[in-house]
Amino acid sequence: MSPQPSCHQLSVLDLVPFGQTGQEQHFFALRLERPAWDLWKPGQFLMIRPHSFGQELPWGRPLGICHMTTKHLICFFQSVGRGTERIAQLRAGDQVQVWGPLGNGFAMEPDVPTLLLAGGIGIVPFVGYVHFHPKPWNVTMLFGHRAPVDCYPMDSINERVPVDRLHESVPGDLENLIYTMRERISEYAEQQGLVLACGPMPFLRTVHRFAQEFGARAQLSLENVMACGVGACLGCVSKTTEKWPVHEKRNWPVQVCTHGPVFWSDQIDLSEGDAS
Ligand SMILES: Cc1cc2nc3c(=O)[nH]c(=O)nc-3n(C[C@H](O)[C@H](O)[C@H](O)COP(=O)(O)OP(=O)(O)OC[C@H]3O[C@@H](n4cnc5c(N)ncnc54)[C@H](O)[C@@H]3O)c2cc1C
Ligand code: FES
Repeated sequence: MSPQPSCHQLSVLDLVPFGQTGQEQHFFALRLERPAWDLWKPGQFLMIRPHSFGQELPWGRPLGICHMTTKHLICFFQSVGRGTERIAQLRAGDQVQVWGPLGNGFAMEPDVPTLLLAGGIGIVPFVGYVHFHPKPWNVTMLFGHRAPVDCYPMDSINERVPVDRLHESVPGDLENLIYTMRERISEYAEQQGLVLACGPMPFLRTVHRFAQEFGARAQLSLENVMACGVGACLGCVSKTTEKWPVHEKRNWPVQVCTHGPVFWSDQIDLSEGDAS
């Protein structure tokens, strides 16, 4: 059972930019004091709302839980718009409101060969995942990214599991990434392995398609735009398939914030126009 979410005022400990110094920075590790959460699972997320959001930005922003130690809660984010730009201006000692842990999390089957597929900032939940996996030698990762690799929290993953990296920088790289994803998903399907994916929607659609083609056991973490984060506003819904366990009805819409963000790929319908 997922732990009950709760709301906390937390102090910012520090905010560390990633990527080359001297250039405009868009990637940040945010370290907060640890909230009193007994349990959490990699793949769960939180809603964060700094005081600086004021009245213009009434809703918090969803961020994955990157890692949690006995003292710290770490988020990692890319600044892409009004909310994340303000989060990127936080300073040590600032207070933020945090609501979590929210949603479900990724399956962890220690003895099963597990392939992590990360696209860009989708690497975030896998930092905690590889750290808490009791048999990391059963885990490998394929990471496709557009920004330079030093923009991402790669080191802590590299220390524990082998990572294949594909930097998409010239035409043709994307085809190579898609080809490699297909190969790897087919391998893991053959060995009854587990495939876990997090990344932008086109990346997830590709994983979804290959998982269907090869009958792979795959989970996808969806990053639909969210407002309330607790199932009330219906702003984040995605359609399910007839495999969805609760309603045996195709296209039944479910809230990603409370029923996800992680879904078994055969239970969710990602056809174009269904999700953000
Ligand atoms: C469950 C979940 C976990 C997430 N975890 C992380 C994380 O760990 N790190 C991280 O950097 N981001 C994460 N995101 C995405 C993050 O929440 C958005 O980037 C953020 O809400 C954008 O807010 P903004 O006000 O800065 O951008 P806005 O001003 O609202 O939008 C700016 C641009 O970003 C796009 N955008 C808005 N929301 C999203 C979204 N959810 N996904 C992709 N693009 C979006 C908009 O379409 C627009 O083009 C997560 C989202 C979800 C739903
Ligand atoms: S964000 Fe409001 S229902 Fe999911």
